[in-house]
Amino acid sequence: MQLEDLQSLTQQALSEIEAAPSADALENLRVQYLGRKGKLPEIMASLKDVAPEDRPAFGQGANAFKVQVTSAIQSRKDDLLSTATPADALDVTLPGNAGQPGSLHPIHQILARVINIFDRIGFNVATGPDVDTVFNNFDALNTPADHPSRDEQDTFYLKDGSLLRTQTSPIQIRHMLNNPPPVRIIAPGRAYRRDTPDATHSATFHQVEGLYVAEKVSMADLKGDLTYFAHEIVGKNTQVRFRPHFFPFTEPSVEVDFTCHVCKGKGCRVCKNSGWIEILGAGMVDPQVFENVGYNPETTSGYAFGMGLERIAMIMLEIDDIRRLYENDARFLRQFA
Ligand code: DAH
Repeated sequence: MQLEDLQSLTQQALSEIEAAPSADALENLRVQYLGRKGKLPEIMASLKDVAPEDRPAFGQGANAFKVQVTSAIQSRKDDLLSTATPADALDVTLPGNAGQPGSLHPIHQILARVINIFDRIGFNVATGPDVDTVFNNFDALNTPADHPSRDEQDTFYLKDGSLLRTQTSPIQIRHMLNNPPPVRIIAPGRAYRRDTPDATHSATFHQVEGLYVAEKVSMADLKGDLTYFAHEIVGKNTQVRFRPHFFPFTEPSVEVDFTCHVCKGKGCRVCKNSGWIEILGAGMVDPQVFENVGYNPETTSGYAFGMGLERIAMIMLEIDDIRRLYENDARFLRQFA
């Protein structure tokens, strides 16, 4: 090796070191140029082959090679370290820590759909307080103190004689007491009963009440509107069945079943093989109820209905236990978000 070779080798080493992409690559270069079997020992060994008059210059060149390569490696190492990520560095490419967006509770999702459907056929939302009077909850609804259906709905009474409403039907009474006919309302709310909690019962639950009062409302309106509701909430092919029933505040009264949305009426586990699912209670408003709120039963007629929201949510969303709706376990609720 001659002096020129040494000089170009030095340049090559320095530019390779400066371009080293990583600490590993840099270490390889260190071994290649300064290591025991590397270029530096080779340079030293070739000193003896250099003409005697050139040796001082070659010696200086060899020394410069060692010093410059050593310091270039050190400075490249510092560079690489300063661009590497320290343990506590902010990594802007990591997914953010944003809060989880909330969503409507399944009960309220179903409620929103129910309200939306009735809104389209002219129903307004009405509400009332959870604590109501015995008159609004029972007496005005044609359920006097000795009526057996009061036992069924035995409830929580407050010291002043008021009660936690057992149904949303008292909202009908409040609304009629405060507004002349015609009336077309949909009234959601909580209801309370002294019930032992199990997979299908809860002492607190939700209902939606409907009331349509005008001059000539008939059973045909009731059937038409509830069939429209069935088609909108479950699907166009749903069939609706009206079974005679009894409620103190309607005459005649019906229970309304929809064909099972899972088996389409064929019979399955969900509908206990009947093909039908009971969805709500309804009927023509009893003339006595009109008397109780000061409406003229000769000139007014109307229909009313009431349905349990939990029941509909559980059927539509295939929830097996009513208690899951109140535990507020985010893992459960997220499935419906
Ligand atoms: N209030 C009834 C209940 O809780 C449901 C109901 C049935 C409401 C018939 C009505 C109706 O308005 O007409 O079981």
